[in-house]
Amino acid sequence: MSSVVNDTRIPNNVDLSSDKRLQRALEEWQPNFLKWWVEMGPEGFQQDDVFLRTAISVDHEGWANFDYVKMPDYRWGIFLSDAVADRTIACGDDYGKPVWQQVPGEHRNVLRRLIVTQGDTEPASVEQQRLLGQTCPSLYDLRNLFQVNVEEGRHLWAMVYLLHSYFGRDGREEAEALLERRSGDPDKPRILGTFNEPCEDWLSFFMFTFFTDRDGKYQLLALAESAFDPLSRTTRFMLTEEAHHMFVGETGVLRVVQRACELAKLDPNGDARAQGGVDLATIQRYLNFWFSSSLDLFGAEVSSNAASFFAAGLKGRAKEAQHTDHVALEGTYALDLPRDGALRREEVALRTAMNEVLRDEYVEDCQRGVDKWNRTIAEQGVDFKLTLPSRRFNRAQGLYAGMRFDTDGALIDEATWQAMKSRWLPSDADRAYVKSLMTRPVYEPGKMAHWIAPPKQGIKGRPVDFEYVRHTPA
Ligand SMILES: [Fe+2]
Ligand SMILES: [Fe+2]
Repeated sequence: MSSVVNDTRIPNNVDLSSDKRLQRALEEWQPNFLKWWVEMGPEGFQQDDVFLRTAISVDHEGWANFDYVKMPDYRWGIFLSDAVADRTIACGDDYGKPVWQQVPGEHRNVLRRLIVTQGDTEPASVEQQRLLGQTCPSLYDLRNLFQVNVEEGRHLWAMVYLLHSYFGRDGREEAEALLERRSGDPDKPRILGTFNEPCEDWLSFFMFTFFTDRDGKYQLLALAESAFDPLSRTTRFMLTEEAHHMFVGETGVLRVVQRACELAKLDPNGDARAQGGVDLATIQRYLNFWFSSSLDLFGAEVSSNAASFFAAGLKGRAKEAQHTDHVALEGTYALDLPRDGALRREEVALRTAMNEVLRDEYVEDCQRGVDKWNRTIAEQGVDFKLTLPSRRFNRAQGLYAGMRFDTDGALIDEATWQAMKSRWLPSDADRAYVKSLMTRPVYEPGKMAHWIAPPKQGIKGRPVDFEYVRHTPA
């Protein structure tokens, strides 16, 4: 296990002090990062003490230290999982050859692009979530929001470290640009669509951390297989932090679902809205929106880029070791391709379908969470089932973009889409209603907003009514 050097300006386990040039470059970037954090990070809570987890070593048991920290004092640092001895390339044309410790010239531009695209999502989500603290349903949730936010900030550090260390001047320029783009800004938007969507209420936040952070998990799993070893080691450590983000999403939605059931049962007409809650039908529409938007992040179903990333060993499949054929030159993948206004099942070369292979694993993983939510609904004795819509539904990228499908994946015409849209996706009225439930924040330890059930347990053995954030309203 490598220990973390914590007494320098930038905590790290990469022996940063041995490379003075790199250390200086990162120390110059650091104040710009902090300026971005103060400007674009959680608004109104920067001076509060927050009960946060900080990485102090990277081994499985000891990497997390819990204590009160003011967010700007969080120890953002550079942590790589330990090197795997004699690691070899996990997939593609060079399968089995030694991994790269430096960037091969022929892959330089593509690797930089992959790292920048991943890196851009990290600050983007912090920007999307920056006002949510002002409407938090509890101090427990407020703390979880901030934990996610500081870790996304650290994930930006992880990518910037790679850019600074391995991509020279171009890398340094890209690191600056990562602090200049802004989520939702029409002039300088973040790179990927979902990361420009507003996330203005807590139901959206829980859906985002469930569906969109989970896309992040699968992108990181694919990059963890990279032949570029520093990228693999960086992403492997990021995955340990990412797990918490999806926990926040899964349990967050679960608690809203549970409360929806409880309130529906209190109401003579079974209407959770009449009792001041979010109803299950609205939850389903939010689910449809965030699931379909997150599916777009995987890229096109048939993709020559995906094929060449795999061939070059830049990206693998999730947990490449679970497959037997790591070259994947032979196989095919069956896809429903739109042809002359209908869908026709055709086989495409497996390598070109690698985005879809990753998407398959993602959908399966999402379904596991939905199953848990449905178990809660069943336990409550309510007759309702949440479902993932077809992966063709509401897509803006790939094969199915520009066409209309219902939630079962059947092709429909524009008129049907327009007529049904507000039953499938959150309407302006839905969004206004959900927001109206969240106008007043709950800052009293142990208290929960009316529309959400309390969590089963607190954080790190602390009770639910622990003062997770010591907040003094301005
Ligand atoms: Fe992240
Ligand atoms: Fe995340």
